[in-house]
Order: sequence, then structure tokens, then C-alpha cells
Amino acid sequence: MLGIILAGGTGTRLLPLTKVTNKHLLPVYDRPMIYYPLETLLKAGIREIIIVTGKEHAGNFMALLASGSEFGARFAYVLQEGAGGIAEAIGLAEPFANGESIAVILGDNVLFDDVSREIADFRSGCRIFLKEVPDPERFGVPEFGKGGDIINIEEKPNAPKSNYAVTGFYLYDSTVFRKIGMLKPSARGELEVTDLNNVYLREGKLTHGYIKGPWIDAGTIDNLLTASNLARERKAKRGQ
Ligand code: G1P
Repeated sequence: MLGIILAGGTGTRLLPLTKVTNKHLLPVYDRPMIYYPLETLLKAGIREIIIVTGKEHAGNFMALLASGSEFGARFAYVLQEGAGGIAEAIGLAEPFANGESIAVILGDNVLFDDVSREIADFRSGCRIFLKEVPDPERFGVPEFGKGGDIINIEEKPNAPKSNYAVTGFYLYDSTVFRKIGMLKPSARGELEVTDLNNVYLREGKLTHGYIKGPWIDAGTIDNLLTASNLARERKAKRGQ
């Protein structure tokens, strides 16, 4: 399975920290933020990884991560020009996928679960991963039907229909690129990952799992601090 880390965007919620650098290069405790999603993929055995980022800081990602040999993996870099959204960024990796399934992770998502089994068991469709959160309105939010299955996903709803966030870790089969090609930009002019996931849902091809350990979208100042504190605690525990 091909891994894709999305590391573009302007990081406006982290200004002025992101005035001269990319959000995913900021420190989360003792390492640059992108190391965390990278480790999630590496721990799961993924060895071919595409990093999608903007042209302003692409050179910094290449200087930091290079060919991937230091990580026992192979990295390639793809440029996303402008703010076309998460689904557009995924679409840019199509030439590298060769009909394979893909594991996508947002570069600001910090989680420590071992997802190798999920990746090994994935066959087709789309699989999303949920986490119960106190502030679902900040995320993609699933609505559950009577049988406990997801019947819709809303992006940053004012009145969330559940207390769950759709985390930024997604598995897609090779039909993902055709589906992205059919998406229309949202009101904010982006191709939304939530719209993509809803296409799979309408086809009856979306399944979901849960993130068991902590999960943080480190894209705000407070969450960046929370992620750093968490990484510090985990490191201290490991050192005991
Ligand atoms: C994005 C997605 C959202 C998802 C979140 C997870 O939001 O659009 O559906 O829940 O990532 O981190 P963003 O954080 O880019 O606003």
C-alpha cells in the first residue's frame, strides 16, 4: 500500500508560528510534527511514501526527510499549488499509486495506535477512523443511523450529529482517483475529503474503525502544546 502524507496548507491557525515556515515542520516536543504521521505509516510497514506540500517550503521537507533511506523507506515529493483542499492533494499522488490502495494521513495528525492490522486487512472501498472528542464542530462529523452505521458525514457542522471526529487517517482503494475527479469544489473553493468519503458512503463502500489511543489534530496553538506534552509523557514512560 502506498502512503501519502499531506503537508501543505498555510497554517493560519498557528500564526505567527507559520509566518516563515510550514506548520508540519514545527516542533512537537522533540521532533518536527511530520515525524509523527510518518512514524504511524512506517510502524505499519508502509515503505513507499509520497509527501504532498506547497512550493514555498518543499525544499525544507526534502532537506529534512530526503530520500527516506534514513527511515528504511522511499519518499517522493509532490507539489500542490494553491489551496485546493485535501481531496485535491490526494489526487496529485495518482501517478505513484499504480492501481494500489492508499493510506492517507494528514501531516498534523498525531496518534500512536498501531494500524498495521487495519492496513493488512484492508481490501476495498474506504475506511475512516473515528475518535470521540469534546469539540466535534471543528472536524468532519459522522451521523449514525439506528443500526450504528454511518449515514452521513458533515464537515465542521454548527450542530454536530455525534460526538465523534473523523480523524485525518484514511484508507482508500484505487477508485479514489476517479471519485476525486468527479468532486465539485465546496463553498470555500476546495475539494473536501468529507465529500470524497460521502461518495464512498453513498456507494455502500465506507467502513469505519476507531482510534484507541490519543489523537490530536495539532493545527491550533493549544493542540500543538497538548501534542507536545503528550509526546513528552510518552517518551518519559518509555524511558522508565
Ligand atoms: C480536516 C478535515 C476534517 C477532519 C480533520 C482531521 O480538517 O477537513 O474532516 O476531521 O482534518 O484532522 P482541517 O483540520 O484541515 O480543518
